[in-house]
Amino acid sequence: MESNQRYTITSALPYTNGPLHIGHLAGAYIPADIFVRFKRLSGNDVAYICGSDEHGVAISIKAKSEGKTPNEIIDKYHNLIKDSFESFGISFDNYSRTSAKIHHKTASEFFIELEKKKIFEIKSSKQLYDPKENQFLADRFIEGTCPNCGYEHAYGDQCESCGSSLNPTDLINPKSKLSGEKPITKETTHWYLPLGNYEDFIKEWVINGKKDKWKPNVYGQVKSWIDLGLESRAITRDLDWGIPVPHENGEGKVLYVWFDAPIGYISSTKEWAEKNGKDWEPYWKDSKTKLIHFIGKDNIVFHSIIFPIILKAHGDYILPENVPANEFLNLEGDKISTSKNWAIWLHEYLIDFPGMQDSLRYTLTVNSPESKDNDFTWKDFQSRNNNELVAILGNFINRVLVLTHKYYDGVIPEKIDSECVDYEILKQVHEYPEIISKSLDKFKFRESVNSLIELSRLGNKYLAEKEPWKLIKEGENQRVNEIMYISLQTCAMIAILSEPFLPNASKKLHRILNLNKVKWNDIDKTDSLLVSNNKINKPELIFRKIEDEEIKNQLKKLKGN
Ligand code: MF3
Ligand code: ZN
Repeated sequence: MESNQRYTITSALPYTNGPLHIGHLAGAYIPADIFVRFKRLSGNDVAYICGSDEHGVAISIKAKSEGKTPNEIIDKYHNLIKDSFESFGISFDNYSRTSAKIHHKTASEFFIELEKKKIFEIKSSKQLYDPKENQFLADRFIEGTCPNCGYEHAYGDQCESCGSSLNPTDLINPKSKLSGEKPITKETTHWYLPLGNYEDFIKEWVINGKKDKWKPNVYGQVKSWIDLGLESRAITRDLDWGIPVPHENGEGKVLYVWFDAPIGYISSTKEWAEKNGKDWEPYWKDSKTKLIHFIGKDNIVFHSIIFPIILKAHGDYILPENVPANEFLNLEGDKISTSKNWAIWLHEYLIDFPGMQDSLRYTLTVNSPESKDNDFTWKDFQSRNNNELVAILGNFINRVLVLTHKYYDGVIPEKIDSECVDYEILKQVHEYPEIISKSLDKFKFRESVNSLIELSRLGNKYLAEKEPWKLIKEGENQRVNEIMYISLQTCAMIAILSEPFLPNASKKLHRILNLNKVKWNDIDKTDSLLVSNNKINKPELIFRKIEDEEIKNQLKKLKGN
């Protein structure tokens, strides 16, 4: 198992224009958090970086619709989002925000450096303009039909349906989101990033370098954009909310949100380093560091083409090793939609299912939209929880804990040796760290969490077959000792391996078993994770059953929206 490797791992910076829902968690946060916890447990040096994305038109529109200032909006949602992440155990090393001073400084310096290197083109062109509102219509201020997929609510910079990156003038039937009017065009000057100049670099780096390393859904998207040809992209806007363009001709202009936001990963790393007396530079500039961006599929073009070109143009920075993007999660057969309130909001889930974060983490992992869009249904959530977490994992642990107290007063029985007839089972149990890490290294989260359940199933089957409760009546004390010893080691293994997936359950299990945190690469140095003669604590339930009534209520709530 890989250890002592430096990792910079990021999750997409969420826009602070609304609360988080399950689609966010499933796309960019749960997989990243599992991966991060796994890498930490195997002894690597990990910086897990995120923060709020607080610029861009998404924020201005929200402020307008709530009759508030953009600053009020970002504060409100930054705090709500930060709390939700904490509650779900998303273990960022640093959660910053792009309104922070350090970010304005870092992003401005990036622009200045690229300007100094004469990377940008400066061009005047006709842009869409709302004469009623006296405003240029960039990004989300304009909507129209996507020329690539026909989706009718594509934004001026991006189609969230097919993921392509657009220019406002590409839209068919554009309409101002401010006045609803058909826009006119007006001349304005902007800084452009000439992506076309980097076509050879991107081709070499992605097409030749990443074909077998990146997930097929990611590689496929990137390849098709490259095949279409890369065009210059404006990286400044005529807006009043954002980072002012640091240039004498930048009056009234700000940096495009997709220029400043990814630089937020760097600013957040700097903030973390400052707080912890560390040096941020190796995390971004040492070629041995692995940089990994976890995102949703609508962010692929920005993380696998545009941001790498910005980093490359700057020159001092490493490029992402991988961009394990997920596809979309639907809800009860329909696209999750904030405006239609078709979503499960995390802060509401926490009220309805207090203490049950692991159950949601589990469902979103086992049913993750890893290689294609997937559907979350409340029914499936209930059955995953009841039939897998409760009936398999929880049940196994509970039986072992109860029997250990019944037979041995909670004391771990004598260690078995390789002569024991069931030694094979113990060996099999010890294969799981390797099995699970292999899946995780390939970003196969569904497979990895399935292996964890499989391990519990193995334990259950072992107990059911050996029936120690019968053997004890027959006076087969030695056999019972062996079976219980193996079962307890299996519980310990589950406690250790569940940490990335089910951090709360894992913590509880460690406490009940009196088990110290074990590094994954040390597991095989011992076949006694639990040492004979040590005592374990009283059993507690790890998961609870979800009743039909609760699911009915959730469906009613959702459909009532
Ligand atoms: N805020 C964007 C979104 O929600 C993601 C920004 S990711 C970053 O789609 F790279 F820009 F930070
Ligand atoms: Zn589209």
